[in-house]
Amino acid sequence: MSQVITFGNFKGGVGKTTNAVQVAYELSKRGLNTLLMDLDPQANATNILLKTKANISDELAHFDSSLMVSIENENLNNSIVNIKDNLDLMGSAPDFALFPRYMEKKFKNNYNDRVKYLDTLIYPIASKYDYVIIDIPPTISLITDAALYASDWCIVVMQTQQQSFDGAAAFIDYIQDDIVDTYGAPRLDVIGILAVLIQAGAPVDETTMANAIDYFGKENILPTAIHSMQRLKRYGITGITTKQKYDKNVFEVYRKVTDDILERIK
Ligand SMILES: Nc1ncnc2c1ncn2[C@@H]1O[C@H](COP(=O)(O)OP(=O)(O)OP(=O)(O)O)[C@@H](O)[C@H]1O
Ligand SMILES: [Mg+2]
Repeated sequence: MSQVITFGNFKGGVGKTTNAVQVAYELSKRGLNTLLMDLDPQANATNILLKTKANISDELAHFDSSLMVSIENENLNNSIVNIKDNLDLMGSAPDFALFPRYMEKKFKNNYNDRVKYLDTLIYPIASKYDYVIIDIPPTISLITDAALYASDWCIVVMQTQQQSFDGAAAFIDYIQDDIVDTYGAPRLDVIGILAVLIQAGAPVDETTMANAIDYFGKENILPTAIHSMQRLKRYGITGITTKQKYDKNVFEVYRKVTDDILERIK
């Protein structure tokens, strides 16, 4: 049975893409067949993984069609490329921003039908993988609704600053009230909150963390927190690299985070 996991928060720039990519990478290292689905027209995850492929292979990645065209053709396979052993990417592109408009035309009157449609395309693809990791944009839109509807699980990425805490709280309310109760998402459950410490030990970060424990409950926060690591920022430019000590530090953290995640969904 494949598991579809979305990383979310309604605040931008909190580490959704970074964590989605690193967890997908770690799952693939464990021999688990993994697909990273980039559902953000910014295509940040796509860029990181294409650079990652360029670091390990001379072969160029080629998409048969953009994600938006694949959706119009009702076949997502044309937007999937292999990155490395056990890791595939469904790449995004700026034209995916047209998805809501396309769905408005396809289902003129019923928002519910628009939310459910992507699931019918994702489901046959997902069944070929052990894990599908979805990266979404930061704003509420049909894209985030459709991604969450199609998911089994969600991880809420929260930086230790007030806006990200507010975004995490709003995101969890939205999952319950809108995605589950209103649209009737059939499988969705929250794994927990993944805390990203901007500056461990700093008073603001400590306060936000304490507030998060109070508000969400300690048991709902994943035990391993992500510290600020320059190497993760660098992967945005270089793609994932593997040889240096700093790379190994990153892998060590995501080994633990992935253990935490698998422990909760088993
Ligand atoms: N733990 C970390 N340490 C250092 N830099 C990080 C860390 N996590 C993320 N970053 C950097 O912060 C920036 C924003 O991260 P990322 O793109 O993952 O956020 P996002 O939530 O996906 O943003 P958006 O809402 O635009 O999709 C990137 O430059 C990324 O490299
Ligand atoms: Mg992102």
